[in-house]
Amino acid sequence: MIPDNKTKLVGVIGHPIIQSFSPLIQNLAFQIRGLNYLYLPFDVPATNLKEALTGITALGIAGLNVTIPHKVKILDYLSDISEEASIIGSVNTIVNDNGELRGYNTDVIGVNETLIPFAESIRNSEVTVIGAGGAARTAVYCLLRNFKPSRVNVVNRTLQKADSIKDYFTAKMIFRGIKTFELLPPDLTGLFANSSLIINTTSVGMYPDNDDAVTTIAESFSSGQIIFDMVYNPMQTKLLAIASERGAHTVGGLKMFVEQGAASFELWTGAKMPKEAINEALGNALAELNTQ
Ligand code: ATR
Repeated sequence: MIPDNKTKLVGVIGHPIIQSFSPLIQNLAFQIRGLNYLYLPFDVPATNLKEALTGITALGIAGLNVTIPHKVKILDYLSDISEEASIIGSVNTIVNDNGELRGYNTDVIGVNETLIPFAESIRNSEVTVIGAGGAARTAVYCLLRNFKPSRVNVVNRTLQKADSIKDYFTAKMIFRGIKTFELLPPDLTGLFANSSLIINTTSVGMYPDNDDAVTTIAESFSSGQIIFDMVYNPMQTKLLAIASERGAHTVGGLKMFVEQGAASFELWTGAKMPKEAINEALGNALAELNTQ
């Protein structure tokens, strides 16, 4: 579709933005649904975030996805925030409603859809979330709200950020079972081994750094565990490969990525994303990139 004077512009802001597959899935979905929209990536460093949002209103950009590292900070610049995004403290989707910028969190739909098949294993058990950014806040919220684990370990490189998640959700969700740890893999082997579910919410292991993993200690994993890596590129991260070799059930970030994108698409257009076609195109594109 060639853009014209009726084309609605949407996009993603983040930094860096080089490896985002959102333009691929959103533009393909617009094309399949016959919608006159165009989706572009915008590389916006943190120092330009406020100005970028002023520009979005001025230019009449219809909506945005928000990614690393802006998902938390962006709350300061929005006119309105959905109740859920406000509780989580993280926004990944903006709708420009006649100059009013409204924030939503569709990542929570992606996390929820990914974890539903494992609900029974999670209930009343110990789980671990690695990371303490917006994606980790979404994971902790979703676990406490919908899956009722007995204990949630939040593990992060910067302990202070894990502590602030703990303080926030202990008060907000009235749950006393959040524990925090610094990300020091040899010390955490036992903690990981005791967790029925481990979620990596950090970008460690993301293309092109395919050889990185938050832990490479195989004894952290065993059969009966679920390891969910939010990284979707590569589809099988090093973390998942190590866990899988130990017999754990591994889940990549592809489903979450498509589900959050589909929910954003619906907020902007009112239409359903054609998920089957999108999954196929995305799978092909990722496979091609990782064989280059
Ligand atoms: P998002 O909103 O997508 O979660 P973010 O707020 O930038 O993104 O958070 C990124 C998370 O990945 C943080 O927990 C970060 O750890 P710090 O709080 O210590 O910065 C974690 N992270 C990023 N790169 C990392 C690395 N190389 N090793 C360990 N953790 C890393």
